[in-house]
Amino acid sequence: MKRVGVLTSGGDSPGMNAAIRAITRTAIYGGLSVVGFFNGFEGLIKNKFEELDLTSVGGQMDKGGTFLGTARVPEFETSEGQKKATANLKKLGVDAVIVVGGDGSLRGAHVLYSYGILTMGVPASIDNDLWGTDYCIGFDTAVNTAIDAISKIRDTASAFERTFLVEVMGRNSGMIALYSAIAGGADCVVIPERSWNIDSLCASIKYGQERGKLHNLIVVAEGAGHAFNIAEQIKRKLNIDVRVTVLGHIQRGGTPSAFDRIIASRLGAEAVKLLLSGENDKMVGLTGHDINSVFLEDAFSKRPIIDDDLIELVKILAL
Ligand code: F6P
Repeated sequence: MKRVGVLTSGGDSPGMNAAIRAITRTAIYGGLSVVGFFNGFEGLIKNKFEELDLTSVGGQMDKGGTFLGTARVPEFETSEGQKKATANLKKLGVDAVIVVGGDGSLRGAHVLYSYGILTMGVPASIDNDLWGTDYCIGFDTAVNTAIDAISKIRDTASAFERTFLVEVMGRNSGMIALYSAIAGGADCVVIPERSWNIDSLCASIKYGQERGKLHNLIVVAEGAGHAFNIAEQIKRKLNIDVRVTVLGHIQRGGTPSAFDRIIASRLGAEAVKLLLSGENDKMVGLTGHDINSVFLEDAFSKRPIIDDDLIELVKILAL
């Protein structure tokens, strides 16, 4: 192996630039040359790339987004697109590709492996929804963004003694919602991994009012139901004033937290080291403080388990 490619794909997440930097510098340290492909798998298909050297990855670590760009690329789901990408990689003499992204991106990495390209995945998704790693790059920053917003909303919620629903990202995942509910001191959390019903939500709001709480903060993961719809139901049942804030894409941006920069640096470096040691078709991840690796197919096809203790903690701490 002499030449390694790197790309970022799918939903961007804060810390992706730190991962590209770590991959590039570790690869150069290991005697490899590095090619950065633009806009995810599109860069492979359309041959859009640049050679990365020690300086080209400088000054990027503290920036959100990804300087290589990202995309969701339907053409890469076709065998024509996959063959074009593989042929371009072979022409460029790129032996291995490191894919930084979420489940769809790692699925793409596994496709490249099936065409004989060495591959490694680095988990990056604010949703933190990959099996085989406790943390994905970007999750910590997204949670910090969410709790910053929740704290501000609490101020006005208390002033007006209002009920607020805060919708956070997570199409299929309640991780941002759960962690930001705990860190933001929310009264309730609604996530797609657990069933919920409007009556128990209303009961918890009533309990809060009776116990003299100045506000009621409910964090809703987008995949669990639209916050505006839920708010309408609450208004109808309880005849109270309810406000909704949808945080949206601000959770995807911003300067990465120290934690995200550190895991991006560690995981990016490890991805290169594993390739150099002959491993392939894997995703690097974190278990506790330790770095591990799992097969790509497991990472994108299995789901991480939501810890029931954390859900209970939200309830206990909201008493
Ligand atoms: O990156 C994951 C995610 O943030 C989901 O939680 C969300 O549903 C989705 O991306 C939205 O992404 P986009 O607007 O880029 O399609």
